[in-house]
Amino acid sequence: MNVTVVGAGYVGLVTAACLADLGHRVVGVDRDHGRVALLQAGGVPIYEPGLDELVRRNQQAGRLRFTTALAQAVPEAEVLFIAVGTPPQEDGSADLQHVLDVARQVGRNLRGFQVVVNKSTVPVGTGDRVQAAIAEALRRRSLGQTPFAVVSNPEFLKEGAAIDDFMRPDRIVVGLPDGPEAERARAALTQLYAPFNRHHERTVWMDRPSAELTKYAANAMLATRISFMNEMALLADQVGADIDAVRRGIGADHRIGHSFLYAGMGYGGSCFPKDTRALVHTAAEQGLRLRVVEAVERVNRAQKQRLVQHLLALFGPDLHGRRFAVWGLAFKPQTNDMREAPSRTVVSELLRRGAEVVAHDPVAGDEARRCLAQDLGGPLHAWPGLRLVDDPHNALDGAHALLLLTEWKCFHNPDWARVVAHMADAVVLDGRNLYDPAQLQAGGVAHIGIGRRNALGQARLDAARSGRPQAAVPPGQALPL
Ligand SMILES: NC(=O)c1ccc[n+]([C@@H]2O[C@H](COP(=O)([O-])OP(=O)(O)OC[C@H]3O[C@@H](n4cnc5c(N)ncnc54)[C@H](O)[C@@H]3O)[C@@H](O)[C@H]2O)c1
Repeated sequence: MNVTVVGAGYVGLVTAACLADLGHRVVGVDRDHGRVALLQAGGVPIYEPGLDELVRRNQQAGRLRFTTALAQAVPEAEVLFIAVGTPPQEDGSADLQHVLDVARQVGRNLRGFQVVVNKSTVPVGTGDRVQAAIAEALRRRSLGQTPFAVVSNPEFLKEGAAIDDFMRPDRIVVGLPDGPEAERARAALTQLYAPFNRHHERTVWMDRPSAELTKYAANAMLATRISFMNEMALLADQVGADIDAVRRGIGADHRIGHSFLYAGMGYGGSCFPKDTRALVHTAAEQGLRLRVVEAVERVNRAQKQRLVQHLLALFGPDLHGRRFAVWGLAFKPQTNDMREAPSRTVVSELLRRGAEVVAHDPVAGDEARRCLAQDLGGPLHAWPGLRLVDDPHNALDGAHALLLLTEWKCFHNPDWARVVAHMADAVVLDGRNLYDPAQLQAGGVAHIGIGRRNALGQARLDAARSGRPQAAVPPGQALPL
């Protein structure tokens, strides 16, 4: 089929490349000239495992091309995807200007029946607004009778595993419009997604508002599990329980399952924070309060401060003269996405308090520089305390603590003897509960996680809180591991 995908970001680019790989002829459209030029030259503007190879292969096969010219890409499409950003506004609502802008341009250029598929995450009722915007543009062209269908097809891919998620979906949610065009739209999407439904039917057909709400409900549910575990972790800290044991204990119940039960520094990324807020906003517009979702968001905001609170307990509020090593900045592994990454909260807070921060991330360094400059309100050269280094071990020299903020694979099994040998103090703040507290204890390393810690970590915190901070363990004095 001839497919146009508008928006060449994390969702649009993956959608375009994957549909091309299924044999469709795909045009990817973006208004960002630099992004399109890079794609045309064989580059890929985001880090997503396997994406560069997939894009290149399909470009070479002539099934995938990129352009900024939406007006030309509209008429040739049988199916046109809208996959542009819907960023949060001040009041928490989703900003629909890009989606509606594309809808108007579609209406200005549409010729004959076309299925417009909204893949961006949008509040209930947006499908109606997209339909109205297209209809209005057609009326202005005196083409008010031209048939078209607006379908909701929310995307559930995870950054870092986006290609696999797209190519092997648990389900494909499709919300059809009311009216006579629904069956034509169903036929088009049945054909488009046929390869995914060969083994068994994965498409869940429904009405458009239900599909729009399904996306938000899914993200709110996942965010709820995370905030729930983070709250349990706070209690675990107080009562001396280990949240990881609790996680395994409850996850084994098949009604609960193991996914999304990890306590940590709070969720970030481009979806959960903005989508939970937008859902609360949608409810408020209907005169409803979603108390559970509101609490999920509140707990998450507080959780992003958890590691900072531990640091302040250990080192006091003034961090001048303290140096911290940071491993990982991206909001999760396998992506360079820094949107709402918890690391941003931690690193900016430490810098504002006068600390030196030496950080390493395998891929998100450039994005981190851009985002931190935004958070700190100016260019980074005004913050000489921040350094980004290419080798994780170079972050450790003279550090008073190591902060693990993203659980990249390369941080899973460090050579602890080498790590500690470089540091001024053998303290690890483990924001992702990646490390085994007992193993670090055996090596003389104080470990403080989220709802888990070893006796050395606990002793450090107890002593600091009682006003008798313990002396640092000098380099080389932690036991070899
Ligand atoms: N990132 C994810 O993991 C994910 C997962 C599921 C759903 N979503 C949703 O998908 C949508 C897109 O998210 P994303 O992460 O891909 O965003 P993104 O910011 O990575 O990409 C959006 C792209 O759209 C382009 N764009 C904006 N307005 C345009 C216009 N008028 N014409 C052409 N191009 C335009 C931008 O230049 C940008 O390249 C959002 O609604 C998001 O909530 C994202």
